[in-house]
Amino acid sequence: MKVLVTGAAGFIGYHMSEALLKKGYKVIGIDSMNPYYDVNLKKCRLEKLKQNKDFSFYHLNLEDNQAILNFGKEHSDISYIIHLAAQAGVRYSLEAPFSYAQANLIGHLAMLELCRSLPHLKHFVYASSSSVYGANEKLPFAVEDRVDTPISLYAATKKSAELMTYSYSHLFKIPATGLRYFTVYGPWGRPDMSAFIFTKAILNDQEMPVFNHGDMRRNFTYVDDVVNGTIACMENAALIHKDLSVTHKLYNIGNNRSEKLMDFIHLIEEVLGKKAKIRFEGMQPGDVKETIAHIKDSTDDFGFKPETSIKQGVPNFVNWYRDYYNV
Ligand SMILES: NC(=O)c1ccc[n+]([C@@H]2O[C@H](COP(=O)([O-])OP(=O)(O)OC[C@H]3O[C@@H](n4cnc5c(N)ncnc54)[C@H](O)[C@@H]3O)[C@@H](O)[C@H]2O)c1
Repeated sequence: MKVLVTGAAGFIGYHMSEALLKKGYKVIGIDSMNPYYDVNLKKCRLEKLKQNKDFSFYHLNLEDNQAILNFGKEHSDISYIIHLAAQAGVRYSLEAPFSYAQANLIGHLAMLELCRSLPHLKHFVYASSSSVYGANEKLPFAVEDRVDTPISLYAATKKSAELMTYSYSHLFKIPATGLRYFTVYGPWGRPDMSAFIFTKAILNDQEMPVFNHGDMRRNFTYVDDVVNGTIACMENAALIHKDLSVTHKLYNIGNNRSEKLMDFIHLIEEVLGKKAKIRFEGMQPGDVKETIAHIKDSTDDFGFKPETSIKQGVPNFVNWYRDYYNV
């Protein structure tokens, strides 16, 4: 069976594609290879994927609706889509707002149009984000909670994508599921995320800013857990959408443990055998102090079970980093 993975050269898309290939799926990857961060890292991930004969790659921009529809005509036998391509990052959305509107709204709409055109599509699964919970004070964050107050444009585009998907799913009976990912980390990670930034700074003896004076908590979620949860969701379309009057659903995909940011940093220090030079700063605009994921529904409906603690995951990340950069 054929699965289309968008953002296949990205951090999660790379792991997703590898796991799908291991399970015997044929994977088609799409990515625009945008230069938001080091394109070499994306090329290296892609090179590894291309070693598998069941992986094929299309260098396409989702914003090019016509190119995406033409692609769909060539691949009308696609069974599943895992849509991960997006302009990610909360902080960058203050600097480059239009790239968020292009990738996360126009690009997302092009994916919905593609879904509409595919005759054999069983399930459209797409990445949303815990950032949609904004400054909600009710914890843990549950999908039933109101999320009408995004505090970054990134969050606003992710919430908008959920709404657009709802309407397409309703109008055209497309089984669709949005997964709100919580802080994902692991090998081949994104250079703009905390695990990467802290590891790099400590190794280079650089001072590193820690926001809200270190008083933050996150559901650091290991990438393999995210991938396993997403694939389980994808495969359980019939179960999730058994009542076809509800063709769109949302779930949280996050670790069930919320960790103190400083504990995460101390673990990196421990693995590196080196102390961080920390510069404590105030809260960043658009950032939230604490996230806790309510995951009972994801566990009940498709068996999502985060298994990797930061004690296992952080060494895996740090060892990959040292190996990849030869430091
Ligand atoms: N990593 C996390 O902690 C996290 C948390 C919540 C949600 N998410 C979501 O998960 C998804 C994957 O995130 P990631 O961490 O792998 O990010 P990433 O930036 O590593 O991967 C995204 C990929 O999409 C590609 N892309 C961007 N715009 C595109 C376009 N218009 N057309 C084609 N390709 C395009 C990029 O080149 C990149 O390779 C995103 O939707 C992101 O918003 C990630």
